[in-house]
Amino acid sequence: MNIKQLAAEKAVDWVEDGMTVGLGTGSTAVYAIRKIGELVQQGMRIQAVATSEESEKLARELSIPILPFAEVGTIDLTIDGADEVDPDLNLIKGGGGALLREKIVAARSRQVMIVAGENKVVKRLGEFPLPVEVVTFAHEWTIQKLESLGCTPVLRKTDSGEVFITDNGNYTVDCHFNEILNPARMHRQLNDIPGVVDNGLFIGLASAVVVAYNSGTIEVKR
Ligand code: 5RP
Repeated sequence: MNIKQLAAEKAVDWVEDGMTVGLGTGSTAVYAIRKIGELVQQGMRIQAVATSEESEKLARELSIPILPFAEVGTIDLTIDGADEVDPDLNLIKGGGGALLREKIVAARSRQVMIVAGENKVVKRLGEFPLPVEVVTFAHEWTIQKLESLGCTPVLRKTDSGEVFITDNGNYTVDCHFNEILNPARMHRQLNDIPGVVDNGLFIGLASAVVVAYNSGTIEVKR
């Protein structure tokens, strides 16, 4: 079993009968969704809300009941991946292009379990380019404003060279900072720019991080 699967399946131990569960996005979250699918097959009553169209499609294939977000009361537990995790459990997310729905679902959740291999754990955020979701209108100007915060911004493209469009119809700009000294302040500065919808800094949203090590051990950081 690889470390992504190890971390993801461990987090699914927190899923209980009757829960509303938030389904994350990305290659680590996929293992959690598959495991939750097994629980549903075994008769556990779970309903879910997905953080991306991709995760929703997988969940439907696995017969996990999906609720439209408007019908969701409180989400009991969300299990999602991350691109970087710092010692305060602040995160960079959005490498998979789903940061906005991921942040909305996390903010609505009682508990957010982040699942990650040890390679995602860093002393300081920012080596991973920070994804920022921007509206398409005047995006060239928004990108200039992002650059003025000290990063090199790169408009995300697909492998075939098309501009990447999020599930919400927006663009993603990957901001190369190298390091982010004050993540909470940077979060505010980014979201103060007109045209920015949200950014991939998740400050104080993770309840716990399940880290899987190459040695096969697991640590739950709180
Ligand atoms: C998607 C995300 C993912 O959780 C993050 O990119 C980690 O992905 P992976 O598990 O594939 O490394 O934030 O928007």
